[in-house]
Formats: sequence, C-alpha cells, structure tokens
Amino acid sequence: LLKNDVNTPQAVVNIDVLDLNIKRMNDVVKQYGVKLRPHIKTHRTPAIAHRQLAAGACGITAAKLGEAEMMAACGIKDILVAYPIVGVNKVDRLFNLACDNKIRVSLDNIEVARGISEGSKRHDMEMEILVEIEIGVNRCGVLPGNMIDFVKKLIKLPGIKFAGIMTYEGRARGAENMEEVKKRGLDEGKFIVDIADKIEKSGILCPIRSAGSTPTAPFAASIQGVTEVRCGNYVFNDVVGLTNGVASVEQCALTVVCTVVSCPTENRIIIDGGSKTFTSDMTRLPGKGFGFFPHEPELILEKLNEEHGIIRVPKGYRKIKIGEKLEIIPNHACVVSNLMEHLYIAKGEKIIGKWPVLCRGKSR
Ligand SMILES: Cc1ncc(COP(=O)(O)O)c(C=O)c1O
Repeated sequence: LLKNDVNTPQAVVNIDVLDLNIKRMNDVVKQYGVKLRPHIKTHRTPAIAHRQLAAGACGITAAKLGEAEMMAACGIKDILVAYPIVGVNKVDRLFNLACDNKIRVSLDNIEVARGISEGSKRHDMEMEILVEIEIGVNRCGVLPGNMIDFVKKLIKLPGIKFAGIMTYEGRARGAENMEEVKKRGLDEGKFIVDIADKIEKSGILCPIRSAGSTPTAPFAASIQGVTEVRCGNYVFNDVVGLTNGVASVEQCALTVVCTVVSCPTENRIIIDGGSKTFTSDMTRLPGKGFGFFPHEPELILEKLNEEHGIIRVPKGYRKIKIGEKLEIIPNHACVVSNLMEHLYIAKGEKIIGKWPVLCRGKSR
C-alpha cells in the first residue's frame, strides 16, 4: 500500500521523521542530565509511547486517567497523571492503577488533595503528588506567592507524599518566534527552580521540578535544578510549531491525507476532511486556514464543515482533479490523532504499518 492509496481522510505518520523527532528531544534533554517524561496526549498511541521509552524516556505523562489506564494495560509502568483527579470514583481508579504501577498525580487545590488523602486511607497506600504552579497561563496552578503555605498544608494530610512541583508554560506555543520561545523556556526553568529553592529553604524537600513543553523543554532543561521535562507535541510537530519556529516542514511527522471530492469552481475545491478530521483549531496567523499543504503551500484550507474541507485555489493554479490525494499538516496534531482509529505508518511513500490509537476518546 502506498500513502496515495489509503482510504481517506487518514492521518499518516512518517516513521523516520517520528524517530528523528524522538531522538532529537532526547539528546537535547539528556545533555543536561534532565529526564524526559513525554506527554502522550499528542498521540494516544501505546506503540509510540513504547518508542519514546525505548529511546530513553523515563516514563510518560498523561492528562486523563483513561489514557493512563490504557497505557498501563499496554505495559507502561511509570506514569504521571498531570491533571487534577476529582471525585471518589476517579480517586479509586487512580489508586487501583497505582497498585501495579508507579503513579504520581498533580493538583493545585487542597480540596482535591483531601480527596486523594481519603483515597490513601481507603486503599491503605500513599500517593506522590506534584503541585502545579501558575506560571501565567491562566489555567490550573497555585499562585507562586501561595506555594509554601500550600505545600505546608499538603504535607499535613495523611497518605500524601509531596514529590515536587510542575509548571506548564503554554504561552510558548503561541510565541511570535524562537527568540520569544527561548525566553519563555529559560524563564520557565528559572521560575520553577526559584520556587523549589524557596520550598526547600522552608525545610521541605522538593525533589521533582517538572517543566517544559515542546517549545520550552530544550531551554527549561538547560537551567540547573530542573529535573524533568514533559513535552508532547514534539513527536509530530504541526503548524503551530512551524509558526513559532520550533519545527520545520521536514520535521512534521504527521500529515492528513485527504481526497478531492468536488471541484465546484476554478478557485474552490472540496476535500473529504472537515472539522471531524482536523478540529476547528486555528493558528494565530489570520487567513492561513486549518492546515498547511507541504507540497502545495499556495493552497489554503479556508473553511471546514464537519466532513467538507473547503480549499481556496489561487488564480491560474494547476487544475486539481477529482480523486486526487492531498497531504496536509494539521494546525494542531494532538487533537487529530484522537479523531483517528489508527495512525498509518509510512516509510517514504510506502505504508508499513497501522498503529491503533488505543487511548482515542479516553478522556474520562
Ligand atoms: C501539563 C502539560 N504538560 C505538558 C504538555 C505538553 O506540551 P506540548 O504538547 O507543547 O509539548 C501539556 C500540553 O498541553 C500539558 O498540558
């Protein structure tokens, strides 16, 4: 089977690019003696997680328990659940997972911590906690000024072991250029180390300082005192990475192959992938559409309906025919894999495998 013959719309992963992306991040991080704990939300595919581990990752990060459960069922033992676990049912699932695996969980609220502490009592186990700090992304996180008080309260709870702290500098994805990315990464590293130092000065050990995303990890890892980075998107890269300068077109491992199904006018053609394939994620560049055509950059995927991708074709462009296959780098690769039953694996133009996205839909 060739890439051009797959049933579409279909995400195809170039295995050589994937392996190079995995190796590159591993090499960068390793030179600083920092651990790489990749976030698997990008691929939700155990076969890729195993490749990351084989290349040197220390374990994985998951957002959701469902992802963690599936990865554990596929033999992955060391998992950080980097998401607040709320409610008795989920807490019990977390402890069940921790019976046979090395599990840590992040949180930012004492109510959530109490729930975990009660779970510890029910299961007669201890749970290692990373406390998330708000770095400025306006998502989860204890405010830096409240951190020491928070940790002091946390360690009083029975069955809780404070293992360290975690940042996620999501603003770097939307950075204008590499200069801004670098600054965000270095600042993230300094920020987390500074807070860890303050916690330790207050007499509490803070062994894990987990930072980093795809853009910031190489820089955050260079700051002494950062112990772990959790990048996810780097395995595939996407249009966001092209826009902020973190990746080149050649470093984008995942593309979506679509078929031209209608050519209503000279300037408009329709492909069989819409928002149910690409999602509606935009880039920060206005007018650039919902993906990038690596072989035909003049085409713009201008609009998406659920199953229709509407492409603007420039005046005087070659005549695109019904049935042609077009390849598109999505704006955001992490949401695309979740919409696929399988990732098709290509070596050059040849399809050599089909990996099930086993954590697809496992957002509970
Ligand atoms: C908590 C956390 N850590 C790590 C990551 C990985 O970031 P990236 O996909 O940019 O590498 C994310 C991404 O959303 C995240 O939410």
